[in-house]
Parts: sequence; structure tokens; C-alpha cells
Amino acid sequence: MAKVTYHIITIFPEAFGSYLGESILARAIEKGIIDVKIYNPRDFTTDKHRKMDDRPYGGGPGMVMYAEPILKAVEQIKNSLKSEIRPTQVKVILFSAQGKQFTNEMARKFSKKYKNIILIAGHYEGIDARVTKILKAEEISIGPYVLTGGELPAMVLVDSISRQVTGVLGKHESLEEERVAAKEVYTRPEVFEFKGKKYRVPKVMLSGNHKLIEEYKLKNK
Ligand code: ADE
Repeated sequence: MAKVTYHIITIFPEAFGSYLGESILARAIEKGIIDVKIYNPRDFTTDKHRKMDDRPYGGGPGMVMYAEPILKAVEQIKNSLKSEIRPTQVKVILFSAQGKQFTNEMARKFSKKYKNIILIAGHYEGIDARVTKILKAEEISIGPYVLTGGELPAMVLVDSISRQVTGVLGKHESLEEERVAAKEVYTRPEVFEFKGKKYRVPKVMLSGNHKLIEEYKLKNK
């Protein structure tokens, strides 16, 4: 089975535990289908204050993260992988609101192509631009809005790529993606009463006629 390991570089390592400890991702980690390793760039600083950032050259608001601790973290990750894999199977991603818009198609491609994915979560005004150049990292945005850091985007990628990795989703859930996905889904009871009003499941959904149900889903997509 092709396992995918994510290496997340973040100054907030604790931000990941609760999500990864729950549900489908936790099960996938337990089964050994995916793995998530966290690295704090502060551990790669050399000064006694473990300083991670500084003012931007040319002025402007906020702070910029130093290149060196991040590059050192990536180097350690790559060294640890040297014996096991080919460099073409490692992908380096850096998050930025100006990056390329992430899509499900990219999630599918990454899940098939890479065994190790390094995710660099930036903060403040960003990361020294030389990191992207040196690592030939791909800059990715998860949507047209600005976040305070790269931790949520990193989790979004871990989630969306992992669900494309064979064995992470159950057979039924995986098949579901190939079929017509309905906008509306229903479960029991057939008639739901709320504040005196009755809400019914559309009759066709109860018909047992799969052809009609598929047609209805297509119409209501
Ligand atoms: N950092 C700040 N905003 C972001 C976004 N929308 N996507 C990825 N990284 C970001």
C-alpha cells in the first residue's frame, strides 16, 4: 500500500493534535496508511532567544520569517528520507494567499505522485522569499481570502489529499465520489417535525428506484 507521510513545519505544533487525533485521519494514521510529522523551526534557530522573524527590508508592516531555520528543518527531513526514497517523490509546498488555488484535482494528483509532502506554514507577513527559490517550493492558496497563518491550509491539504489515498476512506465512501453526488441528503425520520411544521423526505428518495433517484440527484446537483 502506498503510504503518504506529511512533514509539517510550523511554529504552532500543538495546533494539529486535536484534529489529527479524531475520526478518519486518526484511523488512517493508526492503520499506517498516512503519517504526520511536525517540526518546529524554532528548534533550528541558533540564538538564545530562538528568534524566528525580523522586520522586512524596504519597510512595510509586520514581520518576516527567517529563511535559515526553515531551510534547516527541510534539510533534516530530506536527510531522514535519503535512504528510502527518490527525490522526485518529495513535494515541498509553501502556503500563501497569493499562491496557486488548490483543487481536488491537485489533491488526487499529489496522493498518487508523492510519498512525502513537506508543508511549510508561514506566519506574520510571510517567509523570506529565498526559501521558495532555494527549495523550488510550490506556493499554494486554499482560497481567495487571507488567513493569519499556514496551519489551517496545511490541515486542509492533509485532509483532502489523504481521502484520495487508497484505504483511507471505506469502500463505500470512495465509491460515493465516483457517483452523482447530491446536494441534499436525508436520513431518518421520513417526516421530521420542527416547531409545529412537517418536513418530508422527497418521495423519490423513498421509492427504491435507483434510476429515478440518480435522475433526481442529477437535476438537483
Ligand atoms: N496564508 C494566508 N492566507 C492564505 C490562504 N488563503 N491560503 C494559503 N495560505 C494562506
